[in-house]
Amino acid sequence: MIVNTSNVFNFNTDTSGIMIIFGGTGDLTHRKLMPALYNLQCAQKLPANFAVVAVGRRYRSHEDYRYEVYASIKNFARFDMQEKTWHELRRKIYYQQFNFTDDSGYTRLADFLKQIDEQYQTWGNRIFYLAVAPEYFGVIVEKLQAHGMVHNGAGWQRVMIEKPFGRDLYSAQQLNQKITGVFAEKNIYRIDHYLGKEMMQNIMVIRFANMLLEPLWNNQFIDNIQLTSCEKVGVKDRGEYYEQAGALLDMVQNHMLQLLTLTAMEPPASLDTEDVRNEKVKVLSALQEFSPELVQKNVVRGQYGPGKAQGKPVSGYRQEERVSPDSNTETFIALKVHVENFRWAGVPFYIRTGKRMPYKSTQIIVQFKPLPKILYARLNGQMHPNLLVIKIQPQEGVFIQFNAKKPGTESQIAPAQMDFCQNCTDGLNSPEAYERLLFDALRGDSTLFTRWDEVEHSWRFVDTIAANWKQQDSTFPNYPAGSLGPREAEELVARDDRKWLHIK
Ligand SMILES: NC(=O)c1ccc[n+]([C@@H]2O[C@H](COP(=O)([O-])OP(=O)(O)OC[C@H]3O[C@@H](n4cnc5c(N)ncnc54)[C@H](OP(=O)(O)O)[C@@H]3O)[C@@H](O)[C@H]2O)c1
Repeated sequence: MIVNTSNVFNFNTDTSGIMIIFGGTGDLTHRKLMPALYNLQCAQKLPANFAVVAVGRRYRSHEDYRYEVYASIKNFARFDMQEKTWHELRRKIYYQQFNFTDDSGYTRLADFLKQIDEQYQTWGNRIFYLAVAPEYFGVIVEKLQAHGMVHNGAGWQRVMIEKPFGRDLYSAQQLNQKITGVFAEKNIYRIDHYLGKEMMQNIMVIRFANMLLEPLWNNQFIDNIQLTSCEKVGVKDRGEYYEQAGALLDMVQNHMLQLLTLTAMEPPASLDTEDVRNEKVKVLSALQEFSPELVQKNVVRGQYGPGKAQGKPVSGYRQEERVSPDSNTETFIALKVHVENFRWAGVPFYIRTGKRMPYKSTQIIVQFKPLPKILYARLNGQMHPNLLVIKIQPQEGVFIQFNAKKPGTESQIAPAQMDFCQNCTDGLNSPEAYERLLFDALRGDSTLFTRWDEVEHSWRFVDTIAANWKQQDSTFPNYPAGSLGPREAEELVARDDRKWLHIK
């Protein structure tokens, strides 16, 4: 694709700094971070005074490393490779090899940073990106401090941390203690890459910039809200990670609760970082507490067995690579929860996420209450509920369903649908989530990153569910690959006289 900068976010870039990527030879760096930096370079969103230092364990010269990055950018960047743009970025990329536990490596890194700090005039400004397994988060920040790379008397130093932030509330608290012992909260950028997605940011605009919607956004007019994120794929080669996580930790603790908070939050006093975050936290703290009985009743877990994907037979989760043959890990979860505040009392939020489903789709579906059936009582069967759908991915857009007269001499009502697709037109090429997140971190805007109390509340919520599951045997596998999840998930909504909705 030809670079079209007019569609790319447009902010000032008068920041300078060095980005140090721990895990520079890893999958995340090659598939997401380097392509995102290249995209930013294409859009002229990188500061002029900027350099990247990647740290990995295997030996690479600067040139070897740049060569590998070139291939990754060619494969994964949304903009075509342009040699001139690549050349501008290429000369700012460096590689350092050492083991994360090795002090001498940090000494060398500190010297190297001083050297390129002068060369690029980056004033001591540094972002340390931890694209590494969570067990290294603590050791790396402690060694950065011990080797004088944080609080070096000049500029700013920030840390970006990949998910998962802990495995439960306790481990998250332990990790947070280590990190806040080195970095102040305002310099900690905890990533939930969903927040970098274009339509996630659009939720607030759609809600708070439309008179058509905001007055109706409450329990007087809304019947229920469904938050769904389905994936077609299985665990692929991530079996080892997924065995530890499951759908609850991998999706609900972070992405699904982010969807929920943005959908349910009150309008913030301003768009300042802390005002927005405060409102999100209020939603999390108003979540209905799950008793063991409620977990039994309102939470369904599932695991895919053998089935079909795109017409071809595929194996079940227990047969996947690096997965235990009697694994108890859930690959699907559906739940009903209430936000217990004035705006939402009585409105159920149904959350559903799973792997090996028939389609890939993340959507927020708002179903409005029906109108009194007086005028069109005779045509009852034909009146459909009003729906507002915010499509997050892969399609990005907004869909509205309303009732209209069917053309013709008879008085018939038919649902009419308006479908705004943001990413269907070539040229409306949304920035990738990581582009936005790297850019924001460079300019010191942490609005799209999670604050500690958000993380803490969300762990409290999922820990209750996890603790309850530990007491109960599962009946896995309980849905075939390629289906919409276990029967109990359908029953969860059918009990309330509702059904799961999906808008193509
Ligand atoms: N991949 C994704 O799409 C994705 C998405 C969301 C979150 N994440 C999170 O991002 C983090 C990184 O994931 P990943 O998929 O990129 O992992 P990965 O492919 O396994 O890469 C791990 C990186 O860490 C380095 N490393 C490991 N142990 C080291 C040590 N003792 N000393 C020095 N370097 C060491 C590896 O270096 P060598 O290869 O040179 O040994 C490699 O660069 C994880 O926390 C993951 O949960 C990943």
